[in-house]
Amino acid sequence: MPCKLVVLVSGNGSNLQAIIDQIDAGQLDARIVGVISDKPDAYGIERADRHEIPTTILVANNDESRESYDMRLQTAIDSYQPDWIIMAGFMRILSDALVEQYLGRLINIHPSLLPKFKGLNTHQRALQAGEAQHGASVHFVTPKLDDGPVIMQGRIAVHPHESADELKQRVHRIEHQIYPNVVQLLCHQRVSYHDGQVLFDDKLAGQPLTPTVQVAEN
Ligand code: GAR
Repeated sequence: MPCKLVVLVSGNGSNLQAIIDQIDAGQLDARIVGVISDKPDAYGIERADRHEIPTTILVANNDESRESYDMRLQTAIDSYQPDWIIMAGFMRILSDALVEQYLGRLINIHPSLLPKFKGLNTHQRALQAGEAQHGASVHFVTPKLDDGPVIMQGRIAVHPHESADELKQRVHRIEHQIYPNVVQLLCHQRVSYHDGQVLFDDKLAGQPLTPTVQVAEN
């Protein structure tokens, strides 16, 4: 039985597409049972529709509290009965209660080498800081923003004089390779969450995994 994923998106959904493509290519033993978006016009919803994946659009009502929205989100997630909840550019901050509910089953991708550059505008900030390397991190979600234990990182060298946009595009290509890679490891139960740490093959990973697939930069 392939493992069941719910993917949360807010926008373009290119990471969702990367996961869909790997499943279609027979490289990822998973099934996306639902895609949930907080934005009705998210292109990720169109991608899901094209692949006949069920979707739910959950727009926050005016003045709705985070807790109220997250209760509706939890109902939507649970209706799909997923094994894993995959955040792929879902740009809402989750309440502690929701995170606790799915602790160890909730995964996010962030466009930096965490713990560096939590939050927004990561590429611009990496350039401004004169970083020699930049990249993306896939991590378990814990209540503190962008702070959960990192499962895998893909890193690239920062090119001299490149723009934030060029760097962003190159990091995106890395994301598309490492996210399906991690999902496959999760589905095969090779990676798990234990007490704030990542276990790889039942041993403490200690540091972020490097991709187990060949990662091409361009
Ligand atoms: C990705 O770059 C992802 O790392 C980032 O949003 C983008 C979504 O792209 N996520 C965050 O910044 C979360 N803190 P996509 O919609 O094309 O997959």
